[in-house]
Amino acid sequence: MQSSGTVAPIFQLEGVSCRFGAVAALTDCSLSILPGERVALIGPSGAGKSTLLSLLNGSQVPTVGRVAIMGLEINRLGTRKRRRMQRLVGTVYQQHHLVGNLAVIHNVNAGQLGRWPLPLALWSLVWPQGVQRAAEALAQVGIADKLYARTDRLSGGQQQRVALARVLVQDPAAILADEPISSVDPERSRAMMDLLRQLSETTGKTLVISLHEVEFAVKYCDRIVGLRQGQIFFDAPATEVSKAMMTDLYEL
Ligand SMILES: Nc1ncnc2c1ncn2[C@@H]1O[C@H](COP(=O)(O)OP(=O)(O)OP(=O)(O)O)[C@@H](O)[C@H]1O
Ligand SMILES: [Mg+2]
Repeated sequence: MQSSGTVAPIFQLEGVSCRFGAVAALTDCSLSILPGERVALIGPSGAGKSTLLSLLNGSQVPTVGRVAIMGLEINRLGTRKRRRMQRLVGTVYQQHHLVGNLAVIHNVNAGQLGRWPLPLALWSLVWPQGVQRAAEALAQVGIADKLYARTDRLSGGQQQRVALARVLVQDPAAILADEPISSVDPERSRAMMDLLRQLSETTGKTLVISLHEVEFAVKYCDRIVGLRQGQIFFDAPATEVSKAMMTDLYEL
């Protein structure tokens, strides 16, 4: 695949369509995302935001078209290479997928499981391994003191940070977040977005975030991709997205 300009894109979609049976979730989408960019995906419910994220992390393959992650087409790779590629992309989901009755460290270490041999992974459930790395990740997300806390005793916002720490121990090149702030109050939403921006600024990680809150998209991201009915309705720098564009995007 071709790169745009001198920097090779971290993600590239060419003529991508994605169908689920009779439903066209995405239709003929083309998009390049460069390393270090902060991109918001916005658009009405059902527009295809989560589907696009699942293509970017390789958990879904397109029905038509090509998706490349760091120049490699994920559906042309063998299983091992594909897994290695997938570890370079960390995803934080709205439903954090944490195991509530385990200590935070075990949930954070789940981000390492793909790299650990099975005996080490099992041993870690009895005697936690990777303590320093997990502690560093928790410090990065501002809850260093929760290492051994039971996960379901944490607040929703803190659990979200555990999910982010689990992604950080993977040391991914890109972080994808699917509606990371839709279940928390405005203050926690700001704190989470501040944290994501600060992580991308200090580590250079690429961020792709699906958001329903357009004001956060404009404030925290450099670029906004508006999706509507499975198509890219606009793709523009945040500073160039007008109220009229937003209104048209969400028009019923
Ligand atoms: N696994 C699936 N099986 C069947 N249909 C699906 C599946 N995933 C998504 N779809 C359909 O694809 C379309 C796009 O869904 P998607 O979840 O990507 O939208 P979204 O923009 O993330 O919406 P929301 O804002 O509500 O999260 C919808 O019509 C949805 O019902
Ligand atoms: Mg979604």
